[in-house]
Amino acid sequence: MEKFVIHGGKPLKGEVTISGAKNAAVAIVAATILCDEPCVLENVPEISDITMCMKILKAMGADVQLVRKNVVRFDTRGITSPHVPYEMARVMRASSYFLGTLLGRFHEAYVAMPGGCYLGDRPIDQHLKAFRNLGATDELENGEVHCKADQLIGSQIYFDFNTVGGTINAILAAVKAKGRTIIENCAKEPHIVDLANFLNSMGADIRGAGTDVIKIKGVDYLKGITYPIIPDQIEAGTYMVAAAATKGDVLINNVIPKHLESITAKLRKVGVTVEENDESVRVHVDGALTKTSIKTMPHPGFPTDMQPQFSTLLTLAEGTSIVTDEIFDNRFRYVAELRRMGADISVDGKVAIIQGVGKLNGAPVAATDLRAGAAMVIAGLAAEGTTEITDIHYIQRGYECIEKKLQGLGADIKKVIVNDPQSVKMSG
Ligand code: EPU
Repeated sequence: MEKFVIHGGKPLKGEVTISGAKNAAVAIVAATILCDEPCVLENVPEISDITMCMKILKAMGADVQLVRKNVVRFDTRGITSPHVPYEMARVMRASSYFLGTLLGRFHEAYVAMPGGCYLGDRPIDQHLKAFRNLGATDELENGEVHCKADQLIGSQIYFDFNTVGGTINAILAAVKAKGRTIIENCAKEPHIVDLANFLNSMGADIRGAGTDVIKIKGVDYLKGITYPIIPDQIEAGTYMVAAAATKGDVLINNVIPKHLESITAKLRKVGVTVEENDESVRVHVDGALTKTSIKTMPHPGFPTDMQPQFSTLLTLAEGTSIVTDEIFDNRFRYVAELRRMGADISVDGKVAIIQGVGKLNGAPVAATDLRAGAAMVIAGLAAEGTTEITDIHYIQRGYECIEKKLQGLGADIKKVIVNDPQSVKMSG
């Protein structure tokens, strides 16, 4: 078992470079199954969710080669079966994207019910509705979703609510379907636009990604290309908040400032200075931080994936802040951990009331999921004394070399291996 040990209280200073976006990469790596020629992805983040996606492809018969750091060549022509190995699929949410890509390629898919961070129930009814509209049937067989179609036929798909995964899966299944598909009430996250750009560069015909309505004309063939994945908006936001929480001064490179607008606006609201450049942002704090209210929303609103980190910052601000997160049922599990460090937060359903306490104290805490883990790291960096964070495998799902990047900013953080016979490795 590994854990992070942080001696906090040092302002972060210097420059950090953001890696490729996890939530774009998991969709794009799965989408290589639709490509009829080898393709090369650049800016692939070295994180465990991506390692798992690549293991799945290899286990299915694909040739996956690391060209150099963060650059990977995929040749998926060797995949002959539409079956994702059960144990690999069930540990991650993004394995559901193999349903869309395998349906698109083989008109059939077997994928274990997806897992992922526990944020409450995470059904896939909207994904299945999209596949059904395209002509597929689905059944749950021995814990696996089995989808099948004689042919996928372009159709109208209307989502009941905003779903990132549902929108991505509908695109993946429709891109090679016969005829025209119109997807309405789509999610608009940057990773959806990045997936559409990747597929279009290979020869797909997808219009409207990033708006409410996406129109797709099915194509037969997707050619090989080299494609750079966009920078990770949430990793960037996490370093922005870490800089603010430690009252530091950090230049964050390789970002798309437009993707960070909702985070930047909230940081400015609480008294943080954010300077935007073409491909970087500088974050520094000169005075006291003040309260604010946050309600998470689909893009371009404030992202749920930044809620735990920002709430941690608000424990250090003056006054009472209110944070509402209705996207998932259970995104406040980290609060119990933060209270161990002296935070004053009460949670009522999907609303947290945060009373600023000015300072946190180091304590032994656990990462309860990926973004909760990032929040613990920020809390540990800002706190006085020593913080030990266990279950860091959650953090490693989505943050490339987080301890090294933070050490580069002057943080006193170490990854240590502990031999605790009572520890049980939890799967994500
Ligand atoms: N939902 C359904 N039925 C569906 C699909 C979704 O009820 O068929 C519900 C979900 O349970 C949730 C809401 O709709 O309450 C929104 O879910 P969405 O489908 O948008 O989320 P997701 O695709 O499961 C992705 C990211 C999450 C991120 C959310 C929201 C990936 C692999 N995951 O999840 O990322 O929080 O969108 O932006 O892209 C993370 O990176 O830490 C993370 C959890």
